[in-house]
Amino acid sequence: MKFFIDTANLDQIKEAASLGIIDGVTTNPSLIAKEGITGAENIRRHYEAICALVNGDVSAEVIATDFENMVREGEELSAIHPNIVVKVPITRDGLKALSYFAKRGIRTNCTLVFSAGQALLAAKAGATYVSPFIGRLDDISQEGLDLIRSIRSIYDNFVFGTKILAASIRSPLHIVECARIGVDVVTCPLSSLLSLLQHPLTDIGLEKFLSDHRKSQQAAAAMST
Ligand code: E4P
Repeated sequence: MKFFIDTANLDQIKEAASLGIIDGVTTNPSLIAKEGITGAENIRRHYEAICALVNGDVSAEVIATDFENMVREGEELSAIHPNIVVKVPITRDGLKALSYFAKRGIRTNCTLVFSAGQALLAAKAGATYVSPFIGRLDDISQEGLDLIRSIRSIYDNFVFGTKILAASIRSPLHIVECARIGVDVVTCPLSSLLSLLQHPLTDIGLEKFLSDHRKSQQAAAAMST
């Protein structure tokens, strides 16, 4: 399973890359806005900077909602760097755009997916990735992980090549369950990835190892004086 980092923050991307566990980046218009980046040229440069930091796919989302402008924006985004994946929402025009891009070899990430039916359509249209949002379903008291299980079994039934990119991750459990289900990629903030590191027995064990080491060093030093 690959790990993508879900942010447009260059420091976080740099930090995640230095851990050696990051395979790509996902962004969305909210994450770009959070960094205070405005204007087409600045946004283009920001994507270039992200691509220079990570050797892997970088999702960049179109803003347009009509087919013609989605295509224009998507072609501009994909020309920025070979690792750019054009992110397209699952709408009627989005579906047309996904299929247009697929025919031209432009890789896509179909976003804002909240049902198995939407994921089925995205795969039929030739999306490279499909992004089901787990946390936002949990937020409205629906089981986000059930959607992931459904999409996995549908894609396996028909051997669709579309990769499942589990998004909107809220907890370490989401990540581990996604790995058990067999998604292709999980995208989440650095803090969620780092939460996988935590276990109280690791902290207690490390403290004990270090204190035993310290005591034996002190005993050896006392004997030699
Ligand atoms: C995925 O591509 C989205 O950018 C992201 O995972 C959404 O997460 P959120 O629901 O925490 O905003």
